[in-house]
Amino acid sequence: MTSIEKDITRTKPVSGNLDQEMILPGARLGIFGGGQLGRMFAHAAQRLGYSVVVFTPDQGSPASQVANETILADYEDPKAVRKFAESVDVVSLEFENIPLDAVARAAEVTPVRPGFHVLEVAQHRIREKTTLQNFGFAVTPFVAVESVDQLQSASEQLGFPMVLKTALWGYDGKGQRKVNSMKEAIAAFELLGPSAVIAEKMIDFQAEVSILVARSPRGEIAVYPMFYNEHSNHILDVSMCPVPEQFAAIAVEAESIARGVIESIDCVGLLCIEFFISKSNQLMINELAPRPHNSGHLTMEACRTGQFEQQVRAVCNLPLGDTRLIQPAAMANLLGDVWAVGHPKYESAFAAPNTFLHLYGKDDARMGRKMGHLTCLAESSAEAALQSRSIREAMRGFGSRLFD
Ligand SMILES: Nc1ncnc2c1ncn2[C@@H]1O[C@H](COP(=O)(O)OP(=O)(O)O)[C@@H](O)[C@H]1O
Ligand SMILES: [Mg+2]
Repeated sequence: MTSIEKDITRTKPVSGNLDQEMILPGARLGIFGGGQLGRMFAHAAQRLGYSVVVFTPDQGSPASQVANETILADYEDPKAVRKFAESVDVVSLEFENIPLDAVARAAEVTPVRPGFHVLEVAQHRIREKTTLQNFGFAVTPFVAVESVDQLQSASEQLGFPMVLKTALWGYDGKGQRKVNSMKEAIAAFELLGPSAVIAEKMIDFQAEVSILVARSPRGEIAVYPMFYNEHSNHILDVSMCPVPEQFAAIAVEAESIARGVIESIDCVGLLCIEFFISKSNQLMINELAPRPHNSGHLTMEACRTGQFEQQVRAVCNLPLGDTRLIQPAAMANLLGDVWAVGHPKYESAFAAPNTFLHLYGKDDARMGRKMGHLTCLAESSAEAALQSRSIREAMRGFGSRLFD
């Protein structure tokens, strides 16, 4: 073997074929969406020497506050989308509900990762669950509902209680209702319809967990250790890693499902899979998010590669980063209610050891709005969770909630 051949062997990818170039530092990365996930993506990309262009219709958005450039326009503005796509080397996104026309337009000009076919599935709860089921993955039992007749037959198949969700545009529990009777179901359908609604069996789960996985154009896949998630009012409250010991075997199974799903739907970038673990230890997929995920925020301090750097690596076709956990951790969301009586007592967070405060630059602290998060590192994830909750409580100022 000549020395040149040796060099070629060494730079060959582990799997897949490297027919696509790496997008190297100095390049311009585009991001659809202006929220906190775009902001933290921009931080990670800029640290690696990239510039970031944000496309958002929202003035002063968390991501545009830190981006190198912002294109402030509607997704429905084809000229603006084209200008955006022409100005960058690759486009990624920070939420999956980007109008598909905009995605298709951008993709005519530059690679969009994840692509149109992934968003088409992930944007629509019925399409999402049907696709996963067709690939053989276990999902929450569901029935597509477009009429009161179909609602009746859904209730016969699934039984009460059921959860009705709009097929499109839901997030943080918005656009969904738990129903206990046909009367409640009809009222909820009238509220959520007339467009398609998904009826799901209400799962009396023992836990909610998620798996974050990355895949690059060269075919490399990297899976993070599983996160254990607690929700409050349908919004993520606290995530922990590692998961409680009794779920260790299930974590191995979930990691292998995550590899299968990201490959089956041919997703490039990050994908987070939310699961329920039933009382009989069965894993069921609840939903997919083809982007960084709130439950993955703790990776920034607790893993060797944070999720936002991993997104940069994946969409730029760089080698993926090491996903291993360095230290047990927990993340607690800071919602608007922490601001209920004025500014939080920030010193509670700053004074605590092994505690990392992230704020998203939002000035309107509405109830339930994600304003920031805290990550705590400790000897165990249970201890970290306890610490993150107690610091959050201490940050609440006078501890009373002024919202009615
Ligand atoms: N079928 C279900 N059974 C039990 N709980 C559910 C079900 N669907 C949703 N939930 C609860 O509501 C939360 C939010 O629902 P999800 O479908 O993940 O929508 P979102 O897009 O708003 O995150 C879930 O994390 C879970 O706690
Ligand atoms: Mg969810």
